[in-house]
Amino acid sequence: MPRSLANLFSKPSENIMSEIGKTAALMTNVIDLSIGDPDMVTATPILTAAKDSLTAGNTHYSASDGDVEYLKAIIAFYQEKFGLSYTKENVRATVGAGHATFLAFGSIINPNDEVIIFEPYFSPYKTQVEANGGKAIIVTCEAKNGFQPTKEAITAAISDKTKAILVNTPNNPTGAVYDQELLQVLADLAKEHDFYLIADEVYWPFVYGDHEFTPLEKLAPNHTLVTGSLSKVFAMTGFRIGYLAGPADIIDAAGLLNEGITFSAPSISQTAGTYALNHIDDFTPALKEEFGNRLNYVATALNKLPWLNILPVAGSIYLFADISASGMDDVTFSNYLLDKVGVLVIPGRAFGDAGRGYIRIAVTQDMATLAAAVRAFEKLTF
Ligand SMILES: Cc1ncc(COP(=O)(O)O)c(C=O)c1O
Repeated sequence: MPRSLANLFSKPSENIMSEIGKTAALMTNVIDLSIGDPDMVTATPILTAAKDSLTAGNTHYSASDGDVEYLKAIIAFYQEKFGLSYTKENVRATVGAGHATFLAFGSIINPNDEVIIFEPYFSPYKTQVEANGGKAIIVTCEAKNGFQPTKEAITAAISDKTKAILVNTPNNPTGAVYDQELLQVLADLAKEHDFYLIADEVYWPFVYGDHEFTPLEKLAPNHTLVTGSLSKVFAMTGFRIGYLAGPADIIDAAGLLNEGITFSAPSISQTAGTYALNHIDDFTPALKEEFGNRLNYVATALNKLPWLNILPVAGSIYLFADISASGMDDVTFSNYLLDKVGVLVIPGRAFGDAGRGYIRIAVTQDMATLAAAVRAFEKLTF
């Protein structure tokens, strides 16, 4: 008999995303607006950089903290875009941002330490905190506050066990972009109580209208661990490349932890990433514009439906639509949308209880496909 599973996995909570995904996989002609994987193929010059490097024999492990050119490219990017002076000791290559958050949690959490997570949240955070022996403390964000946490709610959640607050702006799934005042509150609290801010910045360029991206690491440099990714910024999800940046002692600890996990990040992806970061303005502004057009188009079109409501577009590549006026709950609605008109979205509760009554729509398909999705929504009756 095999030994039993870890408690964390012996009674897994319902995985709504995977259930709906399985149903969709059995259907044909589904318009998939579920996962955050942009439809665009990575830009040709980035692919060429990767191919050339492979042909030249770049098929080995890189240094465990990262290829020196990749680390330099990250450092130069932070200096040029945000005026931040990281050194090689402050950054390490990771296998995407998911790996970076795991290493960040693993480097700071002692048993029963608490990590505050704002709900609705990108679902892996909670699992990662728990897998690292910590306790996730959930703070609910409400639509009436633009899905930003209030100072009162954050302060009430802080205890002497608080080790970190996870901050994801622009936000998945809600699309919120946290305002400067809130970020300052978070920075001040981190300094006052001496905990970390884990800043998940994977959608940093995708901010629209009057919204601006403010890097938390500028406001609280000694208390912020940045988890970055090239997945969305350059449409490079399959390359699995990202980074962790922050105080040198944490980056060191993350290195020790990662020696026994992946050791290094993929060499070829670091070469591709180096090219991408060194030529960022050739690629990212176009992606930003495209996602902005898509978000605005879908939000405007769907907001005409009497049973659906989307807040004004702020950022990310997602719309979080309130469908409670349809009379259905989010899971029933998502199944109905899939069965009746073949559109796949994620029910809001996949991002925690505060997501009930919402669906997340990823604008990760081209305009023609999004137009077909809008027509499909328009056919629904309640
Ligand atoms: C908020 C957020 N963080 C992290 C990730 C993971 O990114 P990566 O592909 O770099 O692991 C995602 C992917 O959807 C995300 O939405």
